[in-house]
Amino acid sequence: MSFPFVTLKTISNHQDLIIDLQSSELALQGTLKIPGDKSISHRALILGAITQGETIIEGLLLGEDPRSTAACFRGMGAEISPLNSDRITIKGVGLANLQEPIDVLDAGNSGTTMRLMLGLLASHRGRFFCITGDNSLRSRPMSRVVEPLQKMGAKIWGRNNNSLAPLAIQGHNLTPIHYHSPIASAQVKSCLLLAGLMTEGKTTVTEPALSRDHSERMLQSFGATLEIDPSTHSVTITGGTPLTGQKVVVPGDISSAAFWLVAGSIVPQSELVIENVGINPTRTGILEALAMMEADITIENQRVVTGEPVADLRVKQSSLKACVIEGEIIPRLIDEIPILTVAAVFAQGTTIIKDAAELRFKESNRLTAIASQLNRMGAKITELPDGLEIVGGTLLIGHELDSYTDHRIAMSLAIAALMAKGLTTIHRAQVVAVSYPKFVTTLQHLIK
Ligand code: S3P
Repeated sequence: MSFPFVTLKTISNHQDLIIDLQSSELALQGTLKIPGDKSISHRALILGAITQGETIIEGLLLGEDPRSTAACFRGMGAEISPLNSDRITIKGVGLANLQEPIDVLDAGNSGTTMRLMLGLLASHRGRFFCITGDNSLRSRPMSRVVEPLQKMGAKIWGRNNNSLAPLAIQGHNLTPIHYHSPIASAQVKSCLLLAGLMTEGKTTVTEPALSRDHSERMLQSFGATLEIDPSTHSVTITGGTPLTGQKVVVPGDISSAAFWLVAGSIVPQSELVIENVGINPTRTGILEALAMMEADITIENQRVVTGEPVADLRVKQSSLKACVIEGEIIPRLIDEIPILTVAAVFAQGTTIIKDAAELRFKESNRLTAIASQLNRMGAKITELPDGLEIVGGTLLIGHELDSYTDHRIAMSLAIAALMAKGLTTIHRAQVVAVSYPKFVTTLQHLIK
Protein backbone atom coordinates (compact mmCIF):
# COMPACT_ATOMS: atom_id res chain seq x y z
CA MET A 1 0.00 0.00 0.00
CA SER A 2 1.38 3.42 -0.90
CA PHE A 3 1.57 5.95 1.93
CA PRO A 4 -1.04 8.78 1.92
CA PHE A 5 0.59 12.05 1.04
CA VAL A 6 -0.90 15.48 1.83
CA THR A 7 1.57 18.27 2.37
CA LEU A 8 2.02 22.03 2.22
CA LYS A 9 5.17 23.31 0.55
CA THR A 10 6.31 26.93 0.95
CA ILE A 11 7.60 28.53 -2.25
CA SER A 12 8.88 32.10 -1.76
CA ASN A 13 5.70 34.03 -0.87
CA HIS A 14 3.07 31.35 -1.38
CA GLN A 15 2.27 27.74 -0.50
CA ASP A 16 1.47 24.76 -2.70
CA LEU A 17 -0.85 22.08 -1.36
CA ILE A 18 0.25 18.72 -2.73
CA ILE A 19 -2.15 15.78 -2.62
CA ASP A 20 -1.12 12.37 -3.92
CA LEU A 21 -3.31 9.54 -2.67
CA GLN A 22 -4.42 6.15 -3.88
CA SER A 23 -8.14 6.82 -3.60
CA SER A 24 -9.08 3.13 -3.63
CA GLU A 25 -7.21 2.60 -0.36
CA LEU A 26 -8.33 5.72 1.40
CA ALA A 27 -11.13 6.46 3.87
CA LEU A 28 -11.89 9.55 5.96
CA GLN A 29 -12.85 8.73 9.51
CA GLY A 30 -13.13 10.48 12.85
CA THR A 31 -14.81 13.16 14.92
CA LEU A 32 -13.83 16.73 14.35
CA LYS A 33 -14.55 20.31 15.32
CA ILE A 34 -14.57 23.04 12.71
CA PRO A 35 -13.56 26.69 13.16
CA GLY A 36 -16.05 29.33 14.29
CA ASP A 37 -18.59 30.75 11.86
CA LYS A 38 -17.02 33.55 9.83
CA SER A 39 -20.20 35.65 9.46
CA ILE A 40 -21.04 35.44 13.17
CA SER A 41 -17.40 36.15 14.13
CA HIS A 42 -17.36 39.42 12.13
CA ARG A 43 -20.65 40.53 13.62
CA ALA A 44 -19.58 39.74 17.21
CA LEU A 45 -16.40 41.81 16.76
CA ILE A 46 -18.28 44.70 15.14
CA LEU A 47 -21.12 44.89 17.66
CA GLY A 48 -18.68 44.40 20.54
CA ALA A 49 -16.62 47.32 19.23
CA ILE A 50 -19.58 49.76 19.16
CA THR A 51 -21.03 48.69 22.50
CA GLN A 52 -20.46 50.52 25.76
CA GLY A 53 -18.97 47.93 28.11
CA GLU A 54 -17.52 44.47 27.72
CA THR A 55 -18.32 41.77 25.19
CA ILE A 56 -16.94 38.26 25.53
CA ILE A 57 -16.66 36.03 22.47
CA GLU A 58 -16.04 32.31 22.70
CA GLY A 59 -15.24 30.21 19.65
CA LEU A 60 -14.35 33.15 17.39
CA LEU A 61 -12.87 32.16 14.03
CA LEU A 62 -9.13 32.83 14.43
CA GLY A 63 -8.71 33.29 10.67
CA GLU A 64 -7.41 36.08 8.47
CA ASP A 65 -10.82 37.69 7.82
CA PRO A 66 -11.80 38.30 11.48
CA ARG A 67 -8.23 39.51 12.09
CA SER A 68 -8.84 42.18 9.45
CA THR A 69 -12.06 43.24 11.18
CA ALA A 70 -10.36 43.34 14.60
CA ALA A 71 -7.44 45.40 13.26
CA CYS A 72 -9.81 47.97 11.70
CA PHE A 73 -11.78 48.45 14.93
CA ARG A 74 -8.63 48.61 17.06
CA GLY A 75 -7.60 51.46 14.74
CA MET A 76 -10.81 53.25 15.75
CA GLY A 77 -10.42 52.88 19.52
CA ALA A 78 -11.98 49.52 20.43
CA GLU A 79 -9.89 47.40 22.82
CA ILE A 80 -9.89 43.84 21.47
CA SER A 81 -7.76 41.17 23.12
CA PRO A 82 -5.28 39.30 20.86
CA LEU A 83 -7.00 36.80 18.55
CA ASN A 84 -5.08 33.82 19.90
CA SER A 85 -7.40 32.11 22.35
CA ASP A 86 -10.87 30.63 22.64
CA ARG A 87 -12.02 33.62 24.71
CA ILE A 88 -11.78 37.11 23.23
CA THR A 89 -12.76 40.22 25.19
CA ILE A 90 -13.75 43.57 23.72
CA LYS A 91 -14.07 46.91 25.44
CA GLY A 92 -16.25 48.84 23.03
CA VAL A 93 -16.30 52.58 22.37
CA GLY A 94 -20.09 53.03 22.56
CA LEU A 95 -22.66 53.91 19.90
CA ALA A 96 -21.57 56.43 17.23
CA ASN A 97 -18.28 56.85 19.04
CA LEU A 98 -15.65 55.26 16.80
CA GLN A 99 -12.54 57.44 16.64
CA GLU A 100 -11.21 58.81 13.37
CA PRO A 101 -8.35 56.40 12.47
CA ILE A 102 -4.95 57.95 11.80
CA ASP A 103 -4.25 55.53 8.95
CA VAL A 104 -6.05 53.73 6.14
CA LEU A 105 -8.29 50.87 7.36
CA ASP A 106 -7.36 47.57 5.70
CA ALA A 107 -10.13 45.00 5.25
CA GLY A 108 -7.70 42.52 3.64
CA ASN A 109 -9.61 39.87 1.67
CA SER A 110 -12.86 40.38 3.56
CA GLY A 111 -15.95 41.69 1.74
CA THR A 112 -18.00 41.39 4.93
CA THR A 113 -15.56 43.65 6.81
CA MET A 114 -15.61 46.33 4.13
CA ARG A 115 -19.33 46.33 3.36
CA LEU A 116 -20.54 46.21 6.98
CA MET A 117 -18.03 48.84 8.06
CA LEU A 118 -19.12 51.22 5.29
CA GLY A 119 -22.58 51.46 6.87
CA LEU A 120 -21.11 52.26 10.26
CA LEU A 121 -18.50 54.73 9.07
CA ALA A 122 -20.82 56.66 6.74
CA SER A 123 -23.02 57.44 9.74
CA HIS A 124 -20.20 58.66 12.05
CA ARG A 125 -20.74 62.42 11.78
CA GLY A 126 -17.67 64.65 11.46
CA ARG A 127 -15.08 61.90 11.02
CA PHE A 128 -13.11 60.95 7.92
CA PHE A 129 -12.16 57.39 6.98
CA CYS A 130 -10.23 55.64 4.19
CA ILE A 131 -10.72 51.93 3.63
CA THR A 132 -8.93 49.54 1.31
CA GLY A 133 -8.32 45.81 0.85
CA ASP A 134 -6.23 43.28 -1.06
CA ASN A 135 -6.19 42.86 -4.87
CA SER A 136 -9.34 40.72 -4.82
CA LEU A 137 -11.33 43.05 -2.56
CA ARG A 138 -10.28 46.14 -4.53
CA SER A 139 -11.93 44.61 -7.60
CA ARG A 140 -15.22 43.65 -5.92
CA PRO A 141 -18.30 45.86 -6.43
CA MET A 142 -19.03 48.20 -3.55
CA SER A 143 -21.81 50.04 -5.43
CA ARG A 144 -24.33 47.60 -3.97
CA VAL A 145 -23.77 49.29 -0.59
CA VAL A 146 -22.50 52.71 -1.69
CA GLU A 147 -25.66 53.48 -3.70
CA PRO A 148 -28.22 52.83 -0.93
CA LEU A 149 -25.94 54.61 1.55
CA GLN A 150 -25.85 57.61 -0.82
CA LYS A 151 -29.67 57.53 -0.84
CA MET A 152 -29.38 57.98 2.95
CA GLY A 153 -27.11 60.98 2.33
CA ALA A 154 -23.72 59.30 2.73
CA LYS A 155 -20.58 60.91 1.30
CA ILE A 156 -18.34 58.23 -0.22
CA TRP A 157 -15.70 58.54 -2.95
CA GLY A 158 -13.78 55.89 -4.88
CA ARG A 159 -12.64 54.69 -8.30
CA ASN A 160 -15.10 53.69 -11.00
CA ASN A 161 -17.87 56.07 -10.01
CA ASN A 162 -17.37 55.45 -6.27
CA SER A 163 -17.79 51.69 -6.59
CA LEU A 164 -14.27 50.33 -6.04
CA ALA A 165 -11.97 50.50 -3.00
CA PRO A 166 -9.93 52.30 -1.84
CA LEU A 167 -12.90 54.34 -0.63
CA ALA A 168 -12.93 57.62 1.27
CA ILE A 169 -15.86 58.31 3.60
CA GLN A 170 -16.86 61.60 5.19
CA GLY A 171 -19.11 60.61 8.12
CA HIS A 172 -22.44 62.37 8.16
CA ASN A 173 -25.89 62.39 9.79
CA LEU A 174 -27.94 60.09 7.57
CA THR A 175 -31.64 60.01 6.70
CA PRO A 176 -33.61 56.75 7.10
CA ILE A 177 -34.88 55.03 3.93
CA HIS A 178 -36.81 51.94 2.90
CA TYR A 179 -34.44 50.12 0.56
CA HIS A 180 -35.65 47.38 -1.79
CA SER A 181 -32.45 45.49 -2.51
CA PRO A 182 -32.27 43.92 -5.99
CA ILE A 183 -30.14 41.07 -4.57
CA ALA A 184 -30.55 38.79 -1.56
CA SER A 185 -27.35 39.78 0.22
CA ALA A 186 -26.69 39.67 3.94
CA GLN A 187 -23.79 42.07 3.45
CA VAL A 188 -26.05 44.71 1.88
CA LYS A 189 -28.77 44.14 4.48
CA SER A 190 -26.30 44.28 7.40
CA CYS A 191 -24.54 47.38 6.05
CA LEU A 192 -27.84 49.27 5.97
CA LEU A 193 -28.95 47.97 9.37
CA LEU A 194 -25.69 49.24 10.87
CA ALA A 195 -26.18 52.60 9.15
CA GLY A 196 -29.78 52.62 10.45
CA LEU A 197 -28.58 51.82 13.98
CA MET A 198 -26.92 55.25 14.07
CA THR A 199 -29.68 57.12 12.20
CA GLU A 200 -32.72 58.72 13.82
CA GLY A 201 -35.96 57.09 12.62
CA LYS A 202 -36.73 53.77 10.96
CA THR A 203 -34.52 52.23 8.28
CA THR A 204 -36.02 49.26 6.40
CA VAL A 205 -34.39 46.75 4.07
CA THR A 206 -36.48 44.44 1.90
CA GLU A 207 -34.71 41.68 -0.01
CA PRO A 208 -36.01 39.42 -2.80
CA ALA A 209 -35.26 36.24 -0.81
CA LEU A 210 -34.08 35.74 2.74
CA SER A 211 -30.30 35.93 3.19
CA ARG A 212 -28.48 34.86 6.37
CA ASP A 213 -30.02 36.55 9.41
CA HIS A 214 -27.09 36.58 11.87
CA SER A 215 -27.11 40.40 12.04
CA GLU A 216 -30.78 40.49 12.98
CA ARG A 217 -30.31 37.87 15.70
CA MET A 218 -27.21 39.47 17.17
CA LEU A 219 -28.45 43.07 16.97
CA GLN A 220 -31.55 42.01 18.93
CA SER A 221 -29.51 40.22 21.57
CA PHE A 222 -27.32 43.34 21.99
CA GLY A 223 -30.50 45.41 22.57
CA ALA A 224 -31.21 47.08 19.20
CA THR A 225 -34.84 47.74 18.22
CA LEU A 226 -35.80 45.57 15.22
CA GLU A 227 -39.06 44.63 13.53
CA ILE A 228 -38.93 41.63 11.22
CA ASP A 229 -41.57 40.80 8.61
CA PRO A 230 -40.77 37.30 7.29
CA SER A 231 -43.61 37.42 4.75
CA THR A 232 -41.91 40.24 2.78
CA HIS A 233 -38.27 39.48 3.77
CA SER A 234 -38.13 42.91 5.41
CA VAL A 235 -36.33 44.12 8.49
CA THR A 236 -36.65 47.54 10.12
CA ILE A 237 -34.26 49.07 12.63
CA THR A 238 -35.07 52.07 14.81
CA GLY A 239 -31.91 54.11 15.25
CA GLY A 240 -30.35 55.50 18.39
CA THR A 241 -30.68 52.64 20.90
CA PRO A 242 -27.30 52.05 22.60
CA LEU A 243 -26.14 48.42 22.64
CA THR A 244 -25.26 46.40 25.72
CA GLY A 245 -22.19 44.12 25.83
CA GLN A 246 -22.98 40.40 25.57
CA LYS A 247 -21.42 36.99 25.76
CA VAL A 248 -21.43 35.44 22.27
CA VAL A 249 -20.64 31.77 21.72
CA VAL A 250 -19.81 31.33 18.02
CA PRO A 251 -20.92 27.99 16.54
CA GLY A 252 -18.81 26.07 14.02
CA ASP A 253 -19.10 27.33 10.44
CA ILE A 254 -21.42 25.20 8.28
CA SER A 255 -19.55 26.59 5.27
CA SER A 256 -16.38 24.92 6.60
CA ALA A 257 -18.31 21.77 7.60
CA ALA A 258 -19.46 21.56 3.95
CA PHE A 259 -16.00 20.38 2.82
CA TRP A 260 -16.19 17.38 5.18
CA LEU A 261 -19.86 16.71 4.36
CA VAL A 262 -18.91 16.33 0.70
CA ALA A 263 -15.60 14.55 1.38
CA GLY A 264 -17.37 12.08 3.69
CA SER A 265 -20.04 11.49 1.03
CA ILE A 266 -17.66 10.75 -1.85
CA VAL A 267 -14.61 9.01 -0.36
CA PRO A 268 -15.31 5.24 -0.04
CA GLN A 269 -15.95 3.83 3.44
CA SER A 270 -15.85 7.22 5.10
CA GLU A 271 -17.71 8.21 8.24
CA LEU A 272 -17.25 11.56 9.95
CA VAL A 273 -18.91 13.31 12.87
CA ILE A 274 -18.64 17.09 12.70
CA GLU A 275 -19.39 18.59 16.10
CA ASN A 276 -20.95 21.92 17.00
CA VAL A 277 -22.08 23.10 13.57
CA GLY A 278 -24.32 26.17 13.24
CA ILE A 279 -27.56 25.11 11.55
CA ASN A 280 -29.32 28.46 11.26
CA PRO A 281 -32.07 27.80 8.63
CA THR A 282 -30.75 30.69 6.50
CA ARG A 283 -27.53 28.67 6.08
CA THR A 284 -28.69 25.05 5.74
CA GLY A 285 -29.24 25.02 1.97
CA ILE A 286 -26.17 22.76 1.76
CA LEU A 287 -27.92 20.11 3.88
CA GLU A 288 -31.05 20.33 1.70
CA ALA A 289 -29.01 20.10 -1.53
CA LEU A 290 -27.03 17.11 -0.26
CA ALA A 291 -30.31 15.47 0.86
CA MET A 292 -31.64 15.95 -2.72
CA MET A 293 -28.45 14.21 -3.88
CA GLU A 294 -29.25 11.32 -1.48
CA ALA A 295 -26.23 11.91 0.77
CA ASP A 296 -26.29 10.01 4.08
CA ILE A 297 -26.23 12.82 6.65
CA THR A 298 -27.88 12.79 10.06
CA ILE A 299 -28.42 15.77 12.33
CA GLU A 300 -27.77 14.89 15.98
CA ASN A 301 -27.85 16.62 19.34
CA GLN A 302 -29.69 19.78 18.26
CA ARG A 303 -29.58 22.74 20.66
CA VAL A 304 -29.61 26.56 20.71
CA VAL A 305 -26.45 28.43 21.81
CA THR A 306 -26.61 32.22 22.37
CA GLY A 307 -29.44 32.62 19.89
CA GLU A 308 -28.15 30.35 17.10
CA PRO A 309 -29.24 26.73 16.45
CA VAL A 310 -26.39 24.20 16.61
CA ALA A 311 -26.05 20.42 16.02
CA ASP A 312 -23.57 17.63 15.33
CA LEU A 313 -23.59 16.26 11.79
CA ARG A 314 -22.78 12.63 10.93
CA VAL A 315 -21.94 11.81 7.31
CA LYS A 316 -21.35 8.40 5.74
CA GLN A 317 -20.24 7.69 2.20
CA SER A 318 -23.11 7.08 -0.22
CA SER A 319 -23.79 7.13 -3.96
CA LEU A 320 -24.85 10.62 -4.89
CA LYS A 321 -27.47 11.52 -7.52
CA ALA A 322 -27.59 14.64 -9.66
CA CYS A 323 -30.09 17.38 -8.84
CA VAL A 324 -31.19 20.90 -9.81
CA ILE A 325 -30.21 23.73 -7.45
CA GLU A 326 -31.97 27.04 -8.15
CA GLY A 327 -34.19 29.80 -6.77
CA GLU A 328 -34.64 30.71 -3.11
CA ILE A 329 -32.19 28.06 -1.87
CA ILE A 330 -29.27 29.84 -3.57
CA PRO A 331 -28.70 32.56 -0.91
CA ARG A 332 -28.86 29.80 1.73
CA LEU A 333 -25.93 27.89 0.17
CA ILE A 334 -24.16 30.67 -1.73
CA ASP A 335 -20.71 29.94 -0.26
CA GLU A 336 -21.08 26.17 -0.66
CA ILE A 337 -21.54 26.10 -4.45
CA PRO A 338 -17.85 25.35 -5.20
CA ILE A 339 -17.85 22.27 -2.95
CA LEU A 340 -21.34 21.25 -4.17
CA THR A 341 -19.86 21.31 -7.68
CA VAL A 342 -17.29 18.77 -6.49
CA ALA A 343 -20.13 16.61 -5.09
CA ALA A 344 -21.91 16.86 -8.47
CA VAL A 345 -18.78 15.64 -10.29
CA PHE A 346 -19.11 12.40 -8.30
CA ALA A 347 -22.91 12.13 -8.64
CA GLN A 348 -24.79 10.04 -11.17
CA GLY A 349 -26.42 12.24 -13.82
CA THR A 350 -26.23 15.91 -14.75
CA THR A 351 -26.53 18.53 -12.02
CA ILE A 352 -27.70 22.03 -12.90
CA ILE A 353 -26.98 25.06 -10.74
CA LYS A 354 -28.90 28.23 -11.73
CA ASP A 355 -29.64 31.73 -10.34
CA ALA A 356 -26.11 31.91 -8.96
CA ALA A 357 -24.58 34.79 -10.96
CA GLU A 358 -23.62 36.37 -7.59
CA LEU A 359 -20.80 33.82 -7.48
CA ARG A 360 -18.96 35.90 -10.05
CA PHE A 361 -18.50 38.67 -7.42
CA LYS A 362 -17.02 36.67 -4.55
CA GLU A 363 -13.33 36.40 -3.56
CA SER A 364 -12.89 35.18 -7.16
CA ASN A 365 -15.26 34.57 -10.05
CA ARG A 366 -16.21 31.26 -8.47
CA LEU A 367 -18.14 29.88 -11.46
CA THR A 368 -15.12 30.28 -13.73
CA ALA A 369 -12.61 29.26 -11.07
CA ILE A 370 -14.22 25.99 -10.02
CA ALA A 371 -15.30 24.94 -13.53
CA SER A 372 -11.92 25.65 -15.13
CA GLN A 373 -9.89 23.91 -12.42
CA LEU A 374 -12.08 20.81 -12.12
CA ASN A 375 -12.18 20.55 -15.93
CA ARG A 376 -8.37 20.49 -15.92
CA MET A 377 -8.68 17.30 -13.85
CA GLY A 378 -11.10 15.76 -16.37
CA ALA A 379 -14.51 16.92 -15.10
CA LYS A 380 -17.22 17.88 -17.60
CA ILE A 381 -18.54 21.22 -16.40
CA THR A 382 -20.08 23.90 -18.61
CA GLU A 383 -20.30 27.44 -17.34
CA LEU A 384 -23.76 29.04 -17.71
CA PRO A 385 -24.27 32.82 -17.38
CA ASP A 386 -25.76 32.26 -13.91
CA GLY A 387 -24.54 28.82 -12.93
CA LEU A 388 -23.02 25.52 -13.96
CA GLU A 389 -23.98 22.30 -15.71
CA ILE A 390 -22.03 19.38 -14.28
CA VAL A 391 -21.99 15.96 -15.92
CA GLY A 392 -21.31 13.51 -13.11
CA GLY A 393 -19.33 10.31 -13.17
CA THR A 394 -16.11 11.33 -14.92
CA LEU A 395 -12.79 10.09 -13.55
CA LEU A 396 -10.51 12.81 -12.22
CA ILE A 397 -6.78 12.83 -12.87
CA GLY A 398 -4.38 14.79 -10.64
CA HIS A 399 -3.22 18.07 -12.17
CA GLU A 400 -1.52 21.38 -11.42
CA LEU A 401 -4.25 23.76 -10.24
CA ASP A 402 -4.63 27.30 -8.96
CA SER A 403 -6.70 28.52 -6.01
CA TYR A 404 -7.42 31.88 -7.68
CA THR A 405 -6.41 33.10 -4.16
CA ASP A 406 -9.90 32.09 -3.03
CA HIS A 407 -10.09 30.04 0.18
CA ARG A 408 -13.22 28.14 -0.82
CA ILE A 409 -11.82 27.25 -4.25
CA ALA A 410 -8.58 25.96 -2.68
CA MET A 411 -10.42 23.70 -0.20
CA SER A 412 -12.94 22.46 -2.79
CA LEU A 413 -10.10 21.46 -5.11
CA ALA A 414 -8.32 19.69 -2.25
CA ILE A 415 -11.42 17.54 -1.63
CA ALA A 416 -11.69 16.74 -5.36
CA ALA A 417 -7.99 15.79 -5.35
CA LEU A 418 -8.66 13.11 -2.71
CA MET A 419 -10.52 11.19 -5.42
CA ALA A 420 -8.18 11.94 -8.33
CA LYS A 421 -5.69 9.47 -9.70
CA GLY A 422 -2.15 10.78 -9.38
CA LEU A 423 -0.67 13.92 -7.95
CA THR A 424 -2.49 17.25 -7.63
CA THR A 425 -0.73 20.51 -6.78
CA ILE A 426 -2.87 23.48 -5.73
CA HIS A 427 -0.92 26.71 -6.06
CA ARG A 428 -1.49 29.66 -3.70
CA ALA A 429 -3.14 27.38 -1.15
CA GLN A 430 -2.08 29.53 1.82
CA VAL A 431 -5.37 31.37 1.25
CA VAL A 432 -7.24 28.67 3.24
CA ALA A 433 -6.17 30.68 6.34
CA VAL A 434 -8.90 33.21 5.50
CA SER A 435 -11.56 30.92 6.97
CA TYR A 436 -9.90 27.61 7.93
CA PRO A 437 -6.28 27.91 9.12
CA LYS A 438 -6.09 24.25 10.22
CA PHE A 439 -7.70 22.77 7.10
CA VAL A 440 -4.62 20.84 5.96
CA THR A 441 -3.75 19.37 9.37
CA THR A 442 -7.40 18.37 9.86
CA LEU A 443 -7.38 16.61 6.48
CA GLN A 444 -4.15 14.79 7.36
CA HIS A 445 -5.70 13.57 10.65
CA LEU A 446 -8.88 12.28 9.01
CA ILE A 447 -7.18 10.13 6.34
CA LYS A 448 -7.23 6.50 7.46
C1 S3P B 1 -21.74 37.04 4.16
C2 S3P B 1 -22.70 37.10 3.20
C3 S3P B 1 -22.57 36.46 1.88
C4 S3P B 1 -21.46 35.44 1.86
C5 S3P B 1 -20.22 35.94 2.53
C6 S3P B 1 -20.49 36.30 3.97
C7 S3P B 1 -21.97 37.76 5.44
O1 S3P B 1 -22.30 37.46 0.92
O2 S3P B 1 -21.17 35.06 0.53
O3 S3P B 1 -19.21 34.94 2.51
O4 S3P B 1 -21.28 37.45 6.43
O5 S3P B 1 -22.85 38.61 5.47
P1 S3P B 1 -23.50 38.29 0.23
O6 S3P B 1 -24.28 38.86 1.33
O7 S3P B 1 -22.84 39.35 -0.56
O8 S3P B 1 -24.23 37.29 -0.61
